[in-house]
Order: sequence, then structure tokens, then C-alpha cells
Amino acid sequence: MLVKNWIWPLLAASQGAQAALEYTNLCSPSPLPLESIKKAAAIVAKDLLDTYYNGDKPGFVPGILPGPPPDGDYYWWQGGALWGTLLDYWHYTGDTQFNPIVKRAMMFQVGENADYNPRNWSASMGNDDQSFWAFSAMLATELGFEDPPKDKPQWAALVQAVYNEQTAPERRVTTPGHNCEWGLRWQVFPANNGFDYINTIANGCYFNIAARLARYFGNMTYAENAERTWNLITRLKYVDDQYNVYDGAHEGDQCTKINKFQFSYNAVILLQGSAYMWNMTQKPEWEQRINGLLDNIIKVFFPDKVAFEVACEHATCTTDMESFKGYLHRWLASTTQLAPFTRDKIMPVLKSSTAAAVKLCTGGANGRMCGFKWSTGVFDETGAMQQQNVIAALTSLLVGSAKGPLTNSTGGTSVGNPNAGVDTPLTIEQRFGKIGGGDRAGAAILTILIVGAASVMFWYMGTD
Ligand SMILES: *[C@@H]1O[C@H](CO)[C@@H](O)[C@H](O)[C@H]1NC(C)=O
Ligand SMILES: *[C@@H]1O[C@H](CO)[C@@H](O)[C@H](O)[C@H]1NC(C)=O
Ligand SMILES: *[C@@H]1O[C@H](CO)[C@@H](O)[C@H](O)[C@H]1NC(C)=O
Ligand SMILES: *[C@@H]1O[C@H](CO)[C@@H](O)[C@H](O)[C@H]1NC(C)=O
Repeated sequence: MLVKNWIWPLLAASQGAQAALEYTNLCSPSPLPLESIKKAAAIVAKDLLDTYYNGDKPGFVPGILPGPPPDGDYYWWQGGALWGTLLDYWHYTGDTQFNPIVKRAMMFQVGENADYNPRNWSASMGNDDQSFWAFSAMLATELGFEDPPKDKPQWAALVQAVYNEQTAPERRVTTPGHNCEWGLRWQVFPANNGFDYINTIANGCYFNIAARLARYFGNMTYAENAERTWNLITRLKYVDDQYNVYDGAHEGDQCTKINKFQFSYNAVILLQGSAYMWNMTQKPEWEQRINGLLDNIIKVFFPDKVAFEVACEHATCTTDMESFKGYLHRWLASTTQLAPFTRDKIMPVLKSSTAAAVKLCTGGANGRMCGFKWSTGVFDETGAMQQQNVIAALTSLLVGSAKGPLTNSTGGTSVGNPNAGVDTPLTIEQRFGKIGGGDRAGAAILTILIVGAASVMFWYMGTD
């Protein structure tokens, strides 16, 4: 029925028209579409890794996509996001073929202090950058992904390290009575542009991680800080009464001049975090917030029921922004598991959006690479994020038959460490020893080039 309407273009697009013809013969039994979705997702994922990921080849660095510019299009954080997408891929499809690549990548970028802040990337680290790797470690924890060897940092402890570092005053506005007090800064290091930008993505990531740690460990200290973050960003009106979610504001303006761009990842990070809070507490206020955020997400980011990155898609989105549709689909799907009352609203939108997405998978050298502007109906451009978005869209449709996230009392095996990251010093010098003048200049140049956090462009626009 509904499935049949969209499975056809899906197959035609993902496998090439010829392959799709073979499938038409198989199209009647009702379980088949799920298998077809899995096959299509496998192809899109393999094309992504074969085309864009060199990390497993000799001489390349595991964990990252080519970049940052000018060496390639992608930033460090996007590597972190990719492994989360492929963890969901494994969980939803049962296909383990990419797991060794994912595990190696996630272990390689752990860093010297076991906190997803490795020296190579530390000079330009944003709290949100670090969090996107923590999301993948959290997902590994919740899905029961194979644990690292015992003498290596464990998934849950890595998340706790990021959480603890971001809870520390060094990462926050500490001026007593300041309107942004306790706000988490965008950038980690004071010398970097954006240290004074108190944005939704940094705080939303922290909110999401705190909610998930609370549920996983049954530890309400995390939940209190999630709640406190929600209260902060709603008091600052980064989330308004209609549940529009804005980008952020500056410390110098007391966080009052709000940059009103709306990005789907900001909103969906809050939605998924709220779903964790509701799942744990079943408090009516979380249900209300979920409904408010969800209705607004569908209204703003799914005009015509197809994902649309409204702040940039009329013109050109950066590679950062090109990745948001994937998180949008994945975290909406996850929300249906945690807060089942959202399912009837979410699933039809995910279906129609995915159907539109796969229609664009007709490009590139092999004639089946996916595009970005889904609602146009025509292939536009290939890229790792375009592939990632479609993997996310396809696999998210399988959520109905997948297990929900584990906790440490319902089968999770990852060993935590509540004190991870607590003593990690702040400065690069303290962390890694002295760096000379040459390195310093190098680091500054690096910062300009590789500040990879997704809100960079809009931070500048906000400044102007
Ligand atoms: C850091 O950079 C060096 C030099 O390119 C590389 O050999 C190493 O693997 C990198 N480590 C990480 C964690 O990216
Ligand atoms: C779950 O986490 C709590 C808090 O860290 C710990 O006390 C408990 O032993 C853990 N339970 C299991 C089964 O690992
Ligand atoms: C919380 O999430 C779990 C995992 O998805 C799910 O099994 C459970 O039913 C949810 N709780 C409620 C109250 O819906
Ligand atoms: C709960 O989390 C807090 C915050 O990290 C930590 O200080 C405390 O030790 C944890 N409690 C348990 C029982 O693990």
C-alpha cells in the first residue's frame, strides 16, 4: 500500500533502473520492502565509504573524512557523525560489514586524555565538535556495540569525559548575575573566535548527552543538568513560545541579540533529548515540549513532507549544513522509540521524505550517487553528506522493528567512569606541553581554516 508507492522509486534510484526491474518481480510479499530498504541502504553506505573515506588506507588517518579545507571538504566532527550513522545502520539492518571500520575509527580519534579532544584537532575544538563524537560513543553504549579492549577507554566513559569537561566552569560563562550565566560556550579555547558565542548547538548537545547519561546510568545528577540547560535556553528565548529553535547569541550582548537562523539539527537535538527525559520521567512537561518541538519541526523543516534545510537551501548550504537532514531523520526515528506517542506523527513524514530523497540517487560516475535538495526531485550534487543523509533516511524507516536504547540495567555492557575527564586541564599547553611560536602561529592559522563547528558561518553573519 503506502510502502508500495514509494518503494519503487527507491529501488529504481538506489540500484539503477536495471536492478530495480529485477526487484519488481519480488515486490509482492509484504516483508520484502524491508529487505529492499536494507539492500538499498547497503549500497548507499558502501558507495559513501568507497568514494569518500580513505581512513583505512595506508598513509591516511582513521576516523576522519578528507579535510579540512583546503585538503578536503569535511571537518573533524563530521567523521564523528558518520560513525553514528553507521552504528544506526548496523542496528537497524543487522548488517555488520562496516563495524570493524566504525570501531577502529571511533577508537583512533579518542585522543590522549580519553575524551574525544585529540591533540591534532584540539586547537580548533568546539564543544559541539566534541559532542558529535560523544553522540556516537553514547549510541555505541546504548546499542550494545562491541566494547573496546579492557585496557582502552570504554564508550560510556568517553561520553562521561566529554560531559564532565563541558560541565566544568572553564567551558562556561561564570560571571555572577550575567544573563548568559552557566551558558556553555561554543568554542573550547578562549583565543578562538566563538568563545563568546553561547549557542544552541553547544548547549543542545550537552542537554542531549546529559539526558542520555541519566537514563543509561539511572543517575539523576545528569538529568538535573539537562533540565538546567533546558531552562537556560528557554529563558534566553533560544527556543521561543512557538518552539522555534534559534541559533544563539553573544556573551557581550548578554545573550539578548538572538541570531534567528533555524537549523534542523538544533531543533532535533532538543527533541531527542526531551524524548529521553520523558522516557525516564514521564513528566507531562516533557510530553508538552516534545509535542511543541515536533509540530514545529514538521512545519519548519518538512514543508511538503520532505526534509528541507530552510536557512540555507534556497541558496547554498555548507558541507556542515548539508549533513543536517541525516540527523533530522535519525533522531526523529529515535524519538518514536523513546516517546511512542510521537510515532503516528513522525513515521509518515519520514516515509515521504525518504521517498523524495532516493529519487535523487541517480548521479555521479556510477549513476546512483545521491543528491541534496530532495524536494526538487532532481539530482544536484554528490558528497559524503548526501550519501550519509540517505543512509540515515532509509535505515530510520526500519525503526519499528528495532530494539530501543539499552541502559546499564537492561543489557548495556559498556563500563562507565563518573570521574572521566574531571581533571583534564584546559589550555593546549597544559594538555600537551609547550608549543613554540611557530606552532602557535600554525595553530591560529589552523583555527581559521578548520573551525569546523557547524554554526561557523552563521556566527560570522550574527557578528555582522
Ligand atoms: C595526528 O596527525 C598525525 C600526522 O598527520 C597522524 O599521524 C596521526 O594519526 C593523527 N592522529 C589523529 C588522532 O588524528
Ligand atoms: C550501572 O551504573 C551504576 C552507576 O555507575 C553502577 O553503580 C552499577 O553498578 C551499574 N550496573 C551495572 C549492571 O553495570
Ligand atoms: C522508553 O524507551 C524504551 C526503549 O525504546 C521503550 O521500550 C519504553 O517503552 C519507553 N517507555 C515508555 C514509557 O514509553
Ligand atoms: C552520578 O553522576 C555524578 C555526575 O557525574 C557523579 O558525580 C556521581 O558520582 C554519579 N553517581 C553514581 C552513583 O555513579
